[in-house]
Amino acid sequence: MNILILGGGGREHALAWAVMQNPKCDKLIVAPGNAGIAQIAECAALDIENGGAVAEFCDANAVDFVIVGPEAPLAKGVADRLRDAGLLVFGPSEGAARLEASKSFTKEICDAANAPTAAYGHFTDLAEARAYVEAQGAPIVIKADGLAAGKGVIVAMTMDEALGALDDMFGGAFGGAGAEVVIEEFMEGEEASFFVLCDGEVALPFGTAQDHKRVGEGDTGPNTGGMGAYSPAPVLTDVIAQKALDEIVTPTLQEMTKRGTPYQGVLYVGLMIKDGQPRLVEYNVRFGDPECQVLMMRLGAQAMDLLQAAAEGRLAGCDVNWADDHAVTVVMAANGYPGSYAKGSVIKGVGDCPEDSSHMVFHAGTATVDGQITASGGRVLNVTARGASLQEARDRAYGMVDQIDWAGGFYRSDIGWRAL
Ligand code: AMP
Ligand code: GLY
Repeated sequence: MNILILGGGGREHALAWAVMQNPKCDKLIVAPGNAGIAQIAECAALDIENGGAVAEFCDANAVDFVIVGPEAPLAKGVADRLRDAGLLVFGPSEGAARLEASKSFTKEICDAANAPTAAYGHFTDLAEARAYVEAQGAPIVIKADGLAAGKGVIVAMTMDEALGALDDMFGGAFGGAGAEVVIEEFMEGEEASFFVLCDGEVALPFGTAQDHKRVGEGDTGPNTGGMGAYSPAPVLTDVIAQKALDEIVTPTLQEMTKRGTPYQGVLYVGLMIKDGQPRLVEYNVRFGDPECQVLMMRLGAQAMDLLQAAAEGRLAGCDVNWADDHAVTVVMAANGYPGSYAKGSVIKGVGDCPEDSSHMVFHAGTATVDGQITASGGRVLNVTARGASLQEARDRAYGMVDQIDWAGGFYRSDIGWRAL
């Protein structure tokens, strides 16, 4: 098969790495890719949010199967456009991608599906939103309705913070994404992510992970896209995962089908777990980044077969073969991230790190300049390892981090601390 992966971060490097190991893959192209992906696949410059351009590219390059990495092309209907052109695609339609693209839509689906989640109000008017916050009190969670690159959620511990967030959102701080606001009850508990493959009808659990969203040691400081992750998530026991499937995921999929927008792709189910009860925090319509890196490290080549089965509506009867293993990824980020940071610093030592089924440095924001690897983004490398225990995986990952010589970057030294 000729396979095209859309995206160019660590998530897509991990997907490419898994796909390349599968003997079914004859040729792999990643658009746009990055310096690490270029070492294992062909990279193509392509506007991945333009469905017409991607369809033309697939035609010209005899692509058989497209795997969509990030949410933006999905929210713009790229998967629909490709399916219209007769291509096999892994990733939901524009209508089904609303589970990530609109927080109020997700809440409406939870209501209809009777899925446990935070109580909420949905507002398009500042005065009404302020009155609701004043009546509820803090802590409270304020969310811009639309896609805001992970920045549209304010967990407000005080009334001042909550009202300030409302003023910012209605004032246009998130552009169109903030013209509508969802205000949620603050949920306590431990967060974990549950990944489920869906083929429109059947849901197949595809692994669990926990990431570290805060930039600083001990989960402190500003939110980021994720500073590291590990899989499995011990808090998401089999019993809790089954509860999440029965009470949240399956009723959601049934509701989506009922509305004429069946869900196909991976559903990222963000959960808050307290006293053995999972509640939905959010859905994403794609793999997490960096959660995908630890899932792919554990799944290897079979990931490609299962993604294909989901795209072809053949998940019934499919199984995931889990080893009794653990994986950890440590994100190396440019100094200053998630604030402003410099680009172009040289990274040495990546080539000295082992590359095998238990060790891999996935690239996120990198470029090759004059034959050297340089930083070209905020999150730059995902140093990933597998082991028989979380401790072993973690020791291996930090062993590789020690081999990397990059004065322009930093990392958290405590990934996995909660589980250990
Ligand atoms: P979201 O983009 O919806 O995942 O929100 C980002 C982060 O905000 C989540 O990962 C949680 O840590 C936190 N969060 C979101 N909603 C809530 C809530 N209702 N209660 C507590 N924390 C929340
Ligand atoms: N790591 C969080 C996300 O991908 O949304």
